[in-house]
Amino acid sequence: MSKILSFLSVIYILAVSSDATTFEKNGITYHMKYDMSGYYSLSTHGMHVLTPGLIADIENIEWMEIDQQNLTDVEPGTFRNLPKLRRLKITANNIPHIKTGIFNSLSNLTNLELYVNSVYQIDPNAFDNMTTLKYIGLSFNQLESVDPHWFLQTPSLEFIDLRYNRLTKLPASSFGNIKSPGPFILWFDGNYITRIDKDAFSGMKTISTLSLDGNKLKTMTGDFLLGREIDWLSFRANKIECIDQRHFATVFVANYTKIWSNSWHMECFKKIKTWAKENHKNVLYDPY
Ligand SMILES: *[C@@H]1O[C@H](CO)[C@@H](O)[C@H](O)[C@H]1NC(C)=O
Ligand SMILES: *[C@@H]1O[C@H](CO)[C@@H](O)[C@H](O)[C@H]1NC(C)=O
Ligand SMILES: *[C@@H]1O[C@H](CO)[C@@H](O)[C@H](O)[C@H]1NC(C)=O
Ligand SMILES: *[C@@H]1O[C@H](CO)[C@@H](O)[C@H](O)[C@H]1NC(C)=O
Repeated sequence: MSKILSFLSVIYILAVSSDATTFEKNGITYHMKYDMSGYYSLSTHGMHVLTPGLIADIENIEWMEIDQQNLTDVEPGTFRNLPKLRRLKITANNIPHIKTGIFNSLSNLTNLELYVNSVYQIDPNAFDNMTTLKYIGLSFNQLESVDPHWFLQTPSLEFIDLRYNRLTKLPASSFGNIKSPGPFILWFDGNYITRIDKDAFSGMKTISTLSLDGNKLKTMTGDFLLGREIDWLSFRANKIECIDQRHFATVFVANYTKIWSNSWHMECFKKIKTWAKENHKNVLYDPY
């Protein structure tokens, strides 16, 4: 008898949960993902533009993914009353412009992932008042510069991923308006950066990772690191031939610095090695 009961209850659970795994609203299908309640992947069925109020009034949604739906635009006001939404992923679409008014009212959002789009423009106020935002993922887009206004009103921000865009320089105050305490994780790998000005990171005191791999830096004086505490600094695979010995003490300030795969002159490389040893600095020269 108890076996039959437990067998029936298994059937019941399967029936109920499969019922809850998909639902439709405003022509969009919400598929539950990883069997996790609150985590949904959306199919927009050929709708390329998301319009005001389209995704609204869903009490229990916590994670939302809109991946590979060929979206070309998300209009301000698309998302409304999603009180529990913590993570929003709009990835591998074709969105060129992030407008003000799309995300600002998502009051509990911690992770916003916009990677693999064609973003080349982000309105200055696009992330204003996102008080809980911790992580912003903008990698694999077409951004040519960073607007210091973007992160003016994001007091919890600590992780910025700008890998594989088209950045050529990081001017003074690029991140000068950041008010969050950090420590920060900053990824700029795979851009075209040749220049980082003093005070580019002036809003940031403590940095756990600053990654500049695969850019076009030719040398470094370390002035943009002045006054910062850094755990990991990486500038592998740039175009650096030498760093002037006078600047060793300002460049190798992180707890660990990765420098391999540059165009090092042998003599210069040896000097760095000797200096690092004498000064007990962790400079990592090769991947082994
Ligand atoms: C997106 O566009 C591509 C190319 O036109 C097509 O093959 C694909 O099925 C579309 N995907 C969706 C989800 O509409
Ligand atoms: C944010 O989430 C918390 C915890 O789930 C909830 O208590 C709060 O009401 C949410 N905030 C808003 C503005 O809905
Ligand atoms: C941010 O909050 C301020 C004060 O409530 C408001 O005036 C402003 O319109 C908000 N910005 C955005 C982009 O929603
Ligand atoms: C650098 O290493 C020291 C010693 O392990 C540690 O206390 C400190 O927090 C590290 N710096 C950063 C920015 O993480």
